Amino acid sequence: MTTLEDAVAALEGARRTTTRLTEAADAELTAQHSPLMSPLVWDLAHVGQQEELWLLQHGPGRAPDRTPVFHPTIACLYDAAEHPRAARTQLPLLDPRASRRAIADVRRQVLDRLAGPGGGAPGAVFAAAMVAQHEHQHDETMFATHDLRAGDPLLAAEPTPPGRLVPAEPVLVPAGEFLLGVDPAEEPWALDNEHPQHRVHVPAFRIGRVPVTNGEWAQFVADGGYDDPRHWSAEGWAHRTAEDVRVPLGWSADGAGGWTRRSFGVEAAVDPAEPVQHVDFHEAAAYARWAGARLPTEVEWEKAAAWDPVLGRRRRWPWGSDAPTARHANLGGRALGPAQVGAYPAGASAYGVEQLMGDVWEWTSSEFAPWPGFSPMLYDTYSAPWFGGGYRVLRGGSWASDAVAVRPSFRNWDWPVRRQIFTGLRLAWDV
Ligand code: AVJ
Ligand code: FE
Repeated sequence: MTTLEDAVAALEGARRTTTRLTEAADAELTAQHSPLMSPLVWDLAHVGQQEELWLLQHGPGRAPDRTPVFHPTIACLYDAAEHPRAARTQLPLLDPRASRRAIADVRRQVLDRLAGPGGGAPGAVFAAAMVAQHEHQHDETMFATHDLRAGDPLLAAEPTPPGRLVPAEPVLVPAGEFLLGVDPAEEPWALDNEHPQHRVHVPAFRIGRVPVTNGEWAQFVADGGYDDPRHWSAEGWAHRTAEDVRVPLGWSADGAGGWTRRSFGVEAAVDPAEPVQHVDFHEAAAYARWAGARLPTEVEWEKAAAWDPVLGRRRRWPWGSDAPTARHANLGGRALGPAQVGAYPAGASAYGVEQLMGDVWEWTSSEFAPWPGFSPMLYDTYSAPWFGGGYRVLRGGSWASDAVAVRPSFRNWDWPVRRQIFTGLRLAWDV
């Protein structure tokens, strides 16, 4: 089901996106575009440093006496736990040319190793797929850096299909059992926090057919939703007040009752038909309360996305088993933003829920915690250090996520105050 060729293709796909995001002049790559983000050149070298760590310094065929590409005194500069993002331009980082050379050198050795004895073993293929997904995650981070950057555009946007009117009624998901998480035999690239698969009973709930739109969010703003503490949790209100959060990140009033946003170097009208993005967890929860709803739990989200209630089994994707295409979902980073709601009827889940994959990450009410029986993967600090740390789970991937790096079982997590990432929401209701 998963082959060495698929893993190599995923590594190469990730590198194409990394290259697209780091083709700019050196000064763009070494600049601190936002205190929230690393300089692009840090992410550029970090993906190769991690690739060397997991695919050359660990695993089958490991040669203990090989000379590292990233010498320990350099590798430590790319340890995310050691250096906060805002401090990374002060480090003696590799320059763009040296970074490109180093990651290409690592990649050449990785491809040689994968083509050699044991390269096609399941463990080696999983490790390569894991590293490809890690690179795609940093590509998404680099999209956020580009989004925040001042100056003329560096990236071009490709069009998405037009939206369509979708029924306003939410979708009912009746009470019943469901298999949460995935079996590695069926979903071999799933990461540690997606395991083990286990049966859960989910009470009936309703869920939004599509994500909440900018037009709907503008009504929340106009209705004084940001000024009424009744909609907000105590923690959310304290943050809203301290940071003077009044609109999604980057929105400006256009003087005629509408909104504009500067994104990827272009100031454009906020499209009322697109899913809202760049809202934090507290804003999302406040919006939901204002709307007489709540955020879904991540378990509800995954059931609505993956469960086929007729056959009583999971689908690989919301729409079935076909690999994602431009008909199913807005993924892969080409659009530089979400598509309008209703743009992907072919991507609907068995229950009829749309745009679950791609467009915007969807905040859930769940705190990031392990499934019962969790055990860490090779990259053992990927998930475990963050469990129980007050992070909220995000589901579904965004327009900037790659199809090989997200799935219905994929669990992302972030601080509840984060909003430079491509985050939106979908509503849920008790029945
Ligand atoms: C899974 C997106 C929360 O990018 O911050 C990347 C993944 N861990 N490098 C992130 C990660 C180490 C992480 N998220
Ligand atoms: Fe990383």
